[in-house]
Amino acid sequence: MKFQSQKIAYWFFASAMGLLLLQIVYGFIMGFARIGMDGLHEWIPFNTARAVHTNLLVVWLLLGFMGSAYFIIPEEADRELVWPKIAWLQLISFLVVGVIAVVGYHFNYWEGRKFLEIPRPLDYLVVVNVLTFLANIGLTIWKGKRFTTTAIVLYFGLLAAALLYLPGMIDFNNQTMDSFYRWWVVHLWVEGVWELIMGALLCYLLIKLTGVDREVVEKWLYIIVGLTFLSGILGTGHHYYYIGAPRYWLMIGGIFSALEPLAFLGMAIYALAMAKKGGRRHPNKAALNWTLGSAIMSFVGAGFLGFAHTLPQVNMYTHGTLVTAMHGHMAFWGAYAMINLAMIAYVLPILTGRKLWDNAASGYAFWLSNIGMVAMTGAFAVAGITQVNLERRMGLDFLAVQKEIEIHFVGLILAASLFLLGICFYVYNFWRFGLPTDEAAQSDVRAVEDLPPVL
Ligand code: HEM
Ligand code: HEM
Ligand SMILES: [Fe+2]
Repeated sequence: MKFQSQKIAYWFFASAMGLLLLQIVYGFIMGFARIGMDGLHEWIPFNTARAVHTNLLVVWLLLGFMGSAYFIIPEEADRELVWPKIAWLQLISFLVVGVIAVVGYHFNYWEGRKFLEIPRPLDYLVVVNVLTFLANIGLTIWKGKRFTTTAIVLYFGLLAAALLYLPGMIDFNNQTMDSFYRWWVVHLWVEGVWELIMGALLCYLLIKLTGVDREVVEKWLYIIVGLTFLSGILGTGHHYYYIGAPRYWLMIGGIFSALEPLAFLGMAIYALAMAKKGGRRHPNKAALNWTLGSAIMSFVGAGFLGFAHTLPQVNMYTHGTLVTAMHGHMAFWGAYAMINLAMIAYVLPILTGRKLWDNAASGYAFWLSNIGMVAMTGAFAVAGITQVNLERRMGLDFLAVQKEIEIHFVGLILAASLFLLGICFYVYNFWRFGLPTDEAAQSDVRAVEDLPPVL
């Protein structure tokens, strides 16, 4: 670690770990409710659990992105953060807003719009918080000694994510209009600007872990950004099929969203090609596994499973069923959860100065969580396809079908237990690294960037 102020990243990551565990608890509450074990129903009904589960997901991923930015930007700009104390304040206030929101959901203090449940007054606090964050890292880049492509793409990804939060705050009395703009947030985040953040983190990790020359690694980032925008912006149309938007969206959404997997495929090829070129010389094998794993699993979850239901001819049957949940789990996991876990795995030895990189627990964490997530996706897929056939094709009643597919949630719970075991290993490892230290700032835990370059 080069700069003292990078240490703040640790606390963002530690908070993210806690919220990830809590998110999983709410996942289990839903899983058990689905098989009739709904003892908590009076306090945590399914809809509350669902909102808490998905919102905690978004919050811990954002904390991970912010922590990553607080670590990467000083290093890329080659100076300390401009306002280290404000970064602390920002973390604490972000957590306070998150806690109020999540507690509020249990008392019906929410907006009821999927993923954007957070009540309006809290939205304004989030805006102030994120503006402070952007100013902090923006000024650090501005006053820094160098501008790198990685830092700029990361910054613009984060800035665009903040701007795209705003369409979700416009008030409409009309359901179609409300849905239309809700997708500007939800879709343009995960299939647009978050991809830039992921691309930048991937690029940073590949530079550090493979030792391939920065210019070669960064050049590819432009292609990823280009592919993302080309397909993702008009790809929003795949959510406009049945909400009352004009008919031409069927065609536009179908065609452009069908191209979206290309950006994810590009990232997977990119990561594998760089790893092959540079060799696996860095001792932190766990970080490289998570990095390559993220590039591959995001292609499977977002690209492949997204494509599976994006054409209007398919989506007219699968819309809003458990097929969506199948895709949602692996896409979020592969793209955004795994890239954050890759960053954390890379950064921890540097922040703490402890070289605990290649150990048994880190291997178990990687394989158990990934095998568990593949199995969970399978359970959702079987439930979802059965639901589509019985409900949408054969016309059976919604609730009768839910009863029919109950058994698949037993499978989900078993798979999720494996996944949770993997996450427990990851968190255990996180805890074993201990706290960041001042000595680590002078330590010799260096990246292979400092070895002779591979051209
Ligand atoms: C990492 C990237 C992605 C993530 C995290 C993600 C996640 C999600 C989530 C959570 C939903 C449910 C949203 C809601 O109902 O509010 C959803 C819906 C959808 N996604 Fe993705 N997705 C990603 C990429 C893609 C891609 C690349 C495609 C297409 C090729 C795609 C196709 C779809 C479609 C068609 C729906 C609507 C499903 C329905 O009608 O119920 N997704 N996605
Ligand atoms: C390990 C324990 C987990 C369990 C048991 C679980 C279970 C569930 C269940 C039952 C639902 C509701 C599906 C429905 O509407 O019926 C759900 C929704 C969701 N979960 Fe999980 N989950 C877990 C972990 C995760 C993780 C790690 C992620 C992300 C990386 C995630 C992302 C999501 C998303 C995005 C949705 C909304 C899907 C949609 O819009 O259809 N979950 N989860
Ligand atoms: Fe989308």
